[in-house]
Amino acid sequence: MKEKIQNLIEEVQLVSISTAVELEQFRIHYQGRKGILAGLFGEFKRVPPAQKKETGKILNDLKMVVQARIDAFIQEPGATEETPFTDLDLTRPVTYMEPGTRHPLSIVRNQIIGIFSRIGYTVAEDREIEDDWHNFSALNFPEEHPARDMQDTFFIEKNPDIALRTHTSSVQIRTMEKNKPPIRSIFPGRVFRNEVISARAHCIFHQVEGLSVDKDVSFRDLKQTLLYFAKEMFGDDTRIRLRPSYFPFTEPSGEMDVSCNICGGKGCNICKYTGWVEILGCGMVHPAVLENCNIDSEIYTGFAFGMGIERITMLKYQIKDLRLFFENDLRFLNQFRGVF
Ligand code: PHE
Repeated sequence: MKEKIQNLIEEVQLVSISTAVELEQFRIHYQGRKGILAGLFGEFKRVPPAQKKETGKILNDLKMVVQARIDAFIQEPGATEETPFTDLDLTRPVTYMEPGTRHPLSIVRNQIIGIFSRIGYTVAEDREIEDDWHNFSALNFPEEHPARDMQDTFFIEKNPDIALRTHTSSVQIRTMEKNKPPIRSIFPGRVFRNEVISARAHCIFHQVEGLSVDKDVSFRDLKQTLLYFAKEMFGDDTRIRLRPSYFPFTEPSGEMDVSCNICGGKGCNICKYTGWVEILGCGMVHPAVLENCNIDSEIYTGFAFGMGIERITMLKYQIKDLRLFFENDLRFLNQFRGVF
C-alpha cells in the first residue's frame, strides 16, 4: 500500500490543471466521497498495527499534496474559468502604455501661471457658479446697464440670482473681499457666455485674470507687466500696443494687441492683414470697485487684466478653429505629446 501511495503522490504532482473545470474534476477524483483518498483511508483501517504509523504518515502526505495543488490554483492571480492560469513569466516585457498628453489649454494655462509666478504673482481659483453681485454689480455694472449685454449670460435662477460667471473678473471681487493689499494674483478658470459656437467663439472658454493692488500702482506698471508677459509668451521680438476701450470696472480701460507672431507683423490671415492680434482687456481698477470691497481708494490703486486662454493658444500653436479644443479628437490632441 505504501508504494501505491508513493506513486499517487508523484501522479498528483504531475496532473495538469489549467481550468476551473479541470480543478473540479481533480478535486472530485481525489477528495470526493468515493474518491482516491476516501478509498485509501478505508483501506488504512485494515493495515497491520505495526505498519500503521509509517503508512499513516505518507497517506497524510498525499492528502496534503492534493490540497496544496488545489490551493495553488485558487491563489493564482487572474485565473478564471475562461482564462486558464499559466506559469507567471516574470521575464516577459510589460504591456506598453502610451503616456498621456496634456490638453493644449492646460499647457498654455500652466505657461501663463509660470510667467506670472516668476514675478511674484500668486494663483487662486474660485467658483464658476456666481451671483450677480460678484459677476456684475460689485464690478460697477449698474443694473440694466447696456454693458451687461457685452456678456450674454446664462442665468440659472433669479431671486436669489444664480448665474454662470461670464468672466474671471468675479474672482477680483472674491479676492479683495478676503484679502487686503498688497495683492498680486492671477486667477485662471472657465467662463460661460451665451454665444453661438463658431471657429472663433464658444459658450465655454477659459480666461486668466490678473490683479495687482497696492500703494502707488500706476498705468506704467500695468504696461510693463503686460510687455514682460507678451515677450515671455510669444518671444523677445514681440511688441504690444494698447488701444482705449471700455469696461465698467476699470478706468482708464484698454485692449492689448500683440504683434502677430505668425507673420511677424507683416500681415497674414490670422491677424487679418493688420499685423496685430488682440489678446486681452485691461485697465486701472475703478475706485468704485475698490470701495465695494472695502479698500480705501484714496490710499490704494491697482490694475487688472483678463486674457482668453483659447485665443493665446490659437496664436501660439497656429490653431485655426477654437472648436478643436472641445472635441477631444485624438488626432489633434496627440500633436501636443511631450509638451508641458
Ligand atoms: N473681464 C473682461 C472680459 O471678460 C476682461 C478684463 C479683465 C478687462 C480685467 C479689464 C480688466 O472681457
